[in-house]
Amino acid sequence: MYEALLFLHNLVRWAVLAFGFWAFLRPAPRSGAYFAHTLTLQVVLGLGLAFLSPLFQGALANLEAVMQIPSEARYFVAEHWVGGLIALGLAHAGLSQARKGKPRARLLFALALGLLLLSIPWFRPLLRL
Ligand code: HEM
Repeated sequence: MYEALLFLHNLVRWAVLAFGFWAFLRPAPRSGAYFAHTLTLQVVLGLGLAFLSPLFQGALANLEAVMQIPSEARYFVAEHWVGGLIALGLAHAGLSQARKGKPRARLLFALALGLLLLSIPWFRPLLRL
C-alpha cells in the first residue's frame, strides 16, 4: 500500500504540473478545474503517505531531534506539505476567479505553480518504474 501510494504520488505530480502550466497559460474554468482537482488528489495521496511513510512516521516519533538539523526527514515533516497545502488554496482561489472571468486567475495559478515547483522534492526519482 505504501509503495503504491508513493508511486502514484510521484506520478500525479507530472499531471499537476502539466495542468498547472495549462491553467497559467490559458486561465479558464476548464484548465483551472483540471489543475485544482488533480492537485486536490495529490494532497489526498500525500496525506495518506504521511500516515504510511516510515520516514514521515519516524520523524514524527523523534520530532524534537529531527528539527535540530536539516535532513530529508525534516524536509518532509516540516516543509514539503506546507507548500503543497498553500498551493492548493491558491489553485482553488484561481479556479474561483476563472469561473467569474476575472483576470486575477492567472496570477493565482502562477503563484500556485511557482510554489509547487519550489515544494517538489526534486532530489527524489523523477519516475518510480
Ligand atoms: C499536504 C500535502 C502533501 C503531503 C502531506 C505530502 C507528503 C509526502 C511524503 C510523506 C512524502 C515522502 C514519502 C516517503 O518517502 O516515505 C512525499 C514525497 C513526494 N511528494 Fe508529497 N506531499 C504533499 C503534497 C505534494 C504535492 C502537492 C506534490 C507535487 C505536486 C508532491 C510531490 C511529491 C513527490 C514528487 C515526492 C517524492 C516521491 C518519491 O520519492 O517517489 N507532494 N510527499
